[in-house]
Amino acid sequence: MAFKACLALAALARAVDALSDAPSPDNFVRRGTTAAAVLGNYVYVDGGEISQYENGKIGNPASVTVNSTLSIDMSKSWTAGTVTIRTIPKTGPRKTNVQVWADPDTNSFYSWGGKWIGGVNMTKTELWKFTADGSGGGAWSVQDPANPNVFGGLIPGEFSAYTTAKGSGFLIGGIASGWTEIYRAKTQTIPGMLTFNIKSKVWENGTFSAGFSPFDTLSGASAQYVPTFGPNGLILVFGGWSPRVDAEPDIKVSPVFDLQNITFFDPETKKKYSQVTTGDVPPSPRGRFCTVGFEREGGYDIFLFGGMNQRAQTNFDDAYILSLPGFVWTKMPQNPAGNRAEHSCVAVGNRQVLSIGGTDMSWTKNDPAKQGLLLFDMTAMKWSDSYDAGAAAYEAPDTIKSWYTKK
Ligand SMILES: *[C@@H]1O[C@H](CO)[C@@H](O)[C@H](O)[C@H]1NC(C)=O
Ligand SMILES: *[C@@H]1O[C@H](CO)[C@@H](O)[C@H](O)[C@H]1NC(C)=O
Ligand SMILES: *[C@@H]1O[C@H](CO)[C@@H](O)[C@H](O)[C@H]1NC(C)=O
Ligand SMILES: *[C@@H]1O[C@H](CO)[C@@H](O)[C@H](O)[C@H]1NC(C)=O
Repeated sequence: MAFKACLALAALARAVDALSDAPSPDNFVRRGTTAAAVLGNYVYVDGGEISQYENGKIGNPASVTVNSTLSIDMSKSWTAGTVTIRTIPKTGPRKTNVQVWADPDTNSFYSWGGKWIGGVNMTKTELWKFTADGSGGGAWSVQDPANPNVFGGLIPGEFSAYTTAKGSGFLIGGIASGWTEIYRAKTQTIPGMLTFNIKSKVWENGTFSAGFSPFDTLSGASAQYVPTFGPNGLILVFGGWSPRVDAEPDIKVSPVFDLQNITFFDPETKKKYSQVTTGDVPPSPRGRFCTVGFEREGGYDIFLFGGMNQRAQTNFDDAYILSLPGFVWTKMPQNPAGNRAEHSCVAVGNRQVLSIGGTDMSWTKNDPAKQGLLLFDMTAMKWSDSYDAGAAAYEAPDTIKSWYTKK
């Protein structure tokens, strides 16, 4: 009798929900401000915040920091409503808006900057490295710089444009605040660009006026490395705006970058170019959206999804493909799960985009996308809640193919 009662109590105790970094699909509300990287058969998700039901209610505050690194197995097909998201303990700092550089060659990614919500438990500036174990787990360690003199002068921030190209991490612009850097008193725009050489661990930092950075300042933009054009490939930079260095960042009085005139640069020479695009140019101002690229025979196509118009304080729900070499935009069908900004996108299963998280100005409105996961088949131009591990190689959708044949 007493034994039975104990069992019943234990079962009850288990039925009480605790906050989780990967709550059940039914308890999930929203995830956002994450970064993601694909290493082998797994998608890893780092940083960010989550809101969820706890005992039937959303907490106050609604969103809390995610304390683990997540992984999703992409070797098998799955559906967003049931896929298991694994949590991996995180020894490094727990932040939102981190910027990551993936290095699939060594099965690792690096996490730089980002912000501690509430400025709680902040630690000194470090680069953290996640090394995957090949089976969906992995471990964190501090990556020391080869040139501590340069590293010591770097200002960690958020909202920069970042990508990995030619064995180096690139990071353009960003904004520093009292929540991104310990002992920082003032919010400050970070000018220029920094690079981190993954092999030599050497950091470089340079400005626009020195010819090192394609922009003076930049916030909320997205960078995409296209390896297949030019001797060194090219880094394309999309959207965002250019805050002043000498005042509080304010988009109302700052120039914004439209998506018609695209700036790009050579990652070796840093030489800057621009190209005016045609087709269905995405409306701007736009920031905090996601981009992800797909190589195909004779070209390269970049998917752009959602984001925020910070001037109007509204979010977007639209998606586009910018096709290279034509520099032509094509609008994609309406996504089934509404507006979102501050989400991450990665290329998975040959020709699919996986969009992770994102919010629509609220942490308490349930995400229509189960667990915040949305898939898009680039060739079929179809949104889905299911991932197909056996999808065929990417080829351009018919509308883009016919644009090239009509030329
Ligand atoms: C992460 O840790 C903090 C501090 O302990 C806690 O307040 C928060 O609820 C945790 N997040 C989750 C999702 O459990
Ligand atoms: C801050 O650190 C303390 C001590 O390790 C821990 O108990 C607390 O949960 C941490 N808070 C957050 C928000 O991480
Ligand atoms: C890079 O150098 C510039 C000019 O010295 C400086 O203002 C900027 O804060 C540095 N960038 C970073 C990320 O520290
Ligand atoms: C496009 O932007 C570049 C700056 O990156 C500028 O120099 C160029 O004049 C712009 N082109 C047009 C047509 O506006």
